[in-house]
Amino acid sequence: MAVAGCGTPAKPAAGTGTAKPGDPLVGLADIPQGGGKLVDVPGGGRLLVVRTKSGEVRAFDPRCPHTGSIISAPAKGIVDCPTHGSTFDAETGDLRKGPATRGLTSVPVRAAGDRVVLG
Ligand code: FES
Repeated sequence: MAVAGCGTPAKPAAGTGTAKPGDPLVGLADIPQGGGKLVDVPGGGRLLVVRTKSGEVRAFDPRCPHTGSIISAPAKGIVDCPTHGSTFDAETGDLRKGPATRGLTSVPVRAAGDRVVLG
């Protein structure tokens, strides 16, 4: 009998999918200042959208640069990867601790009224 759920987990879609600049991602008020969340992108894909302590919006591809696992939403200024424990700065995406050898890939976004849109 086959056992479901073993082996390497499927990697969820990540990145911007088929979305184009100007497409809305999430309400600005849904992203706490100094925090962030994983959001589904229209047309497929996911992004980590964050707001810095000064209120600037930024986004990152949520695939860990180590082997591609989806990172967790930020907590206390840190984003961690649940698979092997790499950590990243939530505001810059910079690598804090490996085994990953580089930071998160930035994706251009901007605030437009009360929404965050692809940049
Ligand atoms: S996949 Fe993220 S630390 Fe290995």
